[in-house]
Amino acid sequence: MAVVKKLSKTLAIFLLADLTVADIDYSQYVNLFEGTAGGGNMFPGVVAAPFAMTKLGPDVSSGTADAYSGYLPSGSFTGFSMMHESGTGGAPKYGVVSQMPVVGDVPNPLVDLSSGRASADQAQVGYYKASLVNGVVVELAATAHAGFYQYTFPESNYASIVVDVSHVLPSYRGLGWGQGYAGGSFSTFADGHYEGSGIYNNGWNLAPNWTIYFCGKFGQKPLSMKTFTGTNTTLNTYASQNGVSTSGTYRQGGVFAFAKTTVTSRVGISFISSAKACQSLDDEIPATTTLQTLVQNAKANWNGEVFSKVTISSTSASDLEMLYSNLYGMHIIPSNRTGENPGWVSTEPYYDDIFTFWDLFRCSTALMQVLQPVAYEEQIRSLIDIWRHDGWLPDARSSNYNGRTQGGSNADNVLADAYVKGVRGAVNWEDGYSAMVTDAEKVPPNNNDPIAPDSSTKEGRGALPDWLKYGYITPTFTRAVSRAVEYSANDFALYQVANGLGKTADASKYLNRSRNWRNHWNPQATSNGHNGFVVPRLANGSFVNQDPLSCGGCYWGDAYYEALPWEYSMNPHHDVATLINYIGGNDRFTDRIELMFKGGMVSGNSQFNYTIFNPGNEPSFTTPYLYNFVGRQDLSVKRSKYVANTYYNSGTSGLPGNSDAGAMQTWVLWNMIGLYPLTGQTTFLIGSPAFQEMTINLGTGKSLKITSTGGNNYSAYYVQSLKVNGQRWNKSWVTWSDVFENGGTMEFVLGSEPVNWATGDAPPSPASGDV
Ligand SMILES: *[C@@H]1O[C@H](CO)[C@@H](O)[C@H](O)[C@H]1NC(C)=O
Ligand SMILES: *[C@@H]1O[C@H](CO)[C@@H](O)[C@H](O)[C@H]1NC(C)=O
Ligand SMILES: *[C@@H]1O[C@H](CO)[C@@H](O)[C@H](O)[C@H]1NC(C)=O
Ligand SMILES: *[C@@H]1O[C@H](CO)[C@@H](O)[C@H](O)[C@H]1NC(C)=O
Ligand SMILES: *[C@@H]1O[C@H](CO)[C@@H](O)[C@H](O)[C@H]1NC(C)=O
Ligand SMILES: *[C@@H]1O[C@H](CO)[C@@H](O)[C@H](O)[C@H]1NC(C)=O
Ligand SMILES: *[C@@H]1O[C@H](CO)[C@@H](O)[C@H](O)[C@H]1NC(C)=O
Ligand SMILES: *[C@@H]1O[C@H](CO)[C@@H](O)[C@H](O)[C@H]1NC(C)=O
Repeated sequence: MAVVKKLSKTLAIFLLADLTVADIDYSQYVNLFEGTAGGGNMFPGVVAAPFAMTKLGPDVSSGTADAYSGYLPSGSFTGFSMMHESGTGGAPKYGVVSQMPVVGDVPNPLVDLSSGRASADQAQVGYYKASLVNGVVVELAATAHAGFYQYTFPESNYASIVVDVSHVLPSYRGLGWGQGYAGGSFSTFADGHYEGSGIYNNGWNLAPNWTIYFCGKFGQKPLSMKTFTGTNTTLNTYASQNGVSTSGTYRQGGVFAFAKTTVTSRVGISFISSAKACQSLDDEIPATTTLQTLVQNAKANWNGEVFSKVTISSTSASDLEMLYSNLYGMHIIPSNRTGENPGWVSTEPYYDDIFTFWDLFRCSTALMQVLQPVAYEEQIRSLIDIWRHDGWLPDARSSNYNGRTQGGSNADNVLADAYVKGVRGAVNWEDGYSAMVTDAEKVPPNNNDPIAPDSSTKEGRGALPDWLKYGYITPTFTRAVSRAVEYSANDFALYQVANGLGKTADASKYLNRSRNWRNHWNPQATSNGHNGFVVPRLANGSFVNQDPLSCGGCYWGDAYYEALPWEYSMNPHHDVATLINYIGGNDRFTDRIELMFKGGMVSGNSQFNYTIFNPGNEPSFTTPYLYNFVGRQDLSVKRSKYVANTYYNSGTSGLPGNSDAGAMQTWVLWNMIGLYPLTGQTTFLIGSPAFQEMTINLGTGKSLKITSTGGNNYSAYYVQSLKVNGQRWNKSWVTWSDVFENGGTMEFVLGSEPVNWATGDAPPSPASGDV
């Protein structure tokens, strides 16, 4: 992490004469509150650089709603803590290593010290400000491994800071996914600083005990310092009624009092030791550092490492806010924990907080490779190192522990995508492939998850026994149909890497297995005039009678996870030609997607929008672009622009569902670019670009420049013609090597009426060769 980039004075003067894009403050266009309401669950706090380990922000409690990122638009502040996730669902994680400012003396730190919001929170890249009803103003800044708190208290005898080691984000969902506090340590030192550690467990990934160490210092010596421990039985009863581990009611921490109106504090964190936390703190935030300096450094990090890589010609404030807010939102997690891995000693990079590949493999990882080739290679190496030491690739991972796996082993897709697009560097692909083979051949030990006890929800492919025995998954296993669709894509991923590594026998085996989704296809399943859907199948070969518009509870114990049979039936993206054939040809295929955008199709299930197409969840992500396979690129543009314009904006409710660690942001970013990636393949489907000019800096002097004339706003978006690298283009797709490998140009002419320009070859269907 390039944490603190300080330009020397002479260098800064020199640069003034040579203004580059990096000198423009794009961070001013980021709305930190994008997607913080309406279920987006975004984290609006301080992240000092992309992937920074410290994510310092408010923890707000409403007493009923889960605060997944710590933040809620309404409720009371219970603390300001150093670690958060962003945009996730499931259950809150982290909210640990906190401070809470209290006016006056604190005789009993076990009572409720929370305070409401006096006025709306404010945030900029690298900066957060909260005004509390108790009169305290809290301002926050950070670096990669440390945070800075600046408190302004009202005039009073005492300004108190309570450090509650037992503070975590609670879960009120009653699903047993609440975090627990399992103990820790807390010490104060004569010079007024404190050190300690907290042990926490559980959360959505059912993690066992994990430990974070901390080191806190104040800008002035406290007037008094007290430590406390205790148990609050009120909280105990409350916690057990709400599915929170009752050990979480043991409390521990300290109270620091000051006779000043301005109090500052610097806190370092480490997974290794409190000595390392102190070291990082002093390295990254020396005692004389000001809040302003940290904020400026954070902006410089984000401008340099992210925002300046994508520039547009538009000067419209809403265009700029949309672009840069979404670029910001995709770079918060995973967390770069290189040097902070308590699990094993390794020279490989280490990234945690993958939440989750189930969400991210379609749009995010492909864009991450384009924008962050250096970080992306590190992330791929980290995945393989996790397999090396933990035995399994993660589908999700946080607090150094794999889990949960919702469908397939989708790290396979991510590795294959990196492989086919040429990620090499220091990646050991023999090990990478072995990791994928583990997923494809070894049954993961059952972690006996109460919500899906049939097989592992931690890692790997729990339903592998059926997959190997029948070539499909019987109802013995939960999520049988949606897992089968994903296992097919995972096996296609193995095919891609095996093929590239010259393992021809493996390649043909996995290509064959990647077609197994077909074994769930019941041509007799009927819905709204369409025949043929993926349905549950019994061991004796019979299909189960299934309404293609219903997925029952659509959750862990059901046949389809979080999406309808209609949606999963459109997901074999490596075998689309077969799918078109099964559906009855190009016109029927077009008609089927059109129906997915027709209102009033799904009723009685609040989890779904009124269209079958669900903008808020990933199994629907690719659907609007599939028209490209049947010569109707115009409809891909029409529907994908509809989705972008209807469901996305840069406001607080501007995401159609949980951000899912940036998955939503990357869907709409690809829409703005005018391309859509087919993960695991080198193919990008062509949409319609949002701007007259966009330049993506690909590093090492390469760039992709996408221009458009004749339209380029929210009405005239149909492609009239296209040139790629100066050549007239008649395919509705490009490959990685066409535009990304060495950079390139795409020149669109747009207009308000559809034109049948994409008369060339259809996009590849690499698993369909046998039909
Ligand atoms: C990740 O963190 C390590 C250790 O701080 C650093 O060396 C590396 O450059 C970081 N990676 C990125 C992409 O910033
Ligand atoms: C226990 O916690 C509750 C809720 O925060 C608080 O109202 C109560 O005063 C606390 N009891 C003790 C004995 O600290
Ligand atoms: C978790 O940590 C606590 C405190 O050290 C310890 O008492 C408990 O046994 C640990 N639990 C497990 C499962 O290791
Ligand atoms: C492909 O799979 C089918 C069963 O689905 C099997 O009969 C056949 O032998 C497989 N072919 C290869 C080359 O593995
Ligand atoms: C398979 O089993 C189901 C349920 O027992 C039964 O209804 C069906 O007729 C069987 N199919 C065959 C082909 O035996
Ligand atoms: C579906 O999404 C649209 C667009 O956001 C919204 O207007 C409509 O209320 C949603 N319908 C349901 C049932 O949630
Ligand atoms: C932009 O859209 C408006 C309607 O929203 C239309 O009148 C105008 O012609 C469009 N501009 C261009 C350059 O296409
Ligand atoms: C598409 O373009 C290619 C290359 O210019 C050309 O060979 C081919 O004939 C074109 N196909 C159609 C259907 O226009």
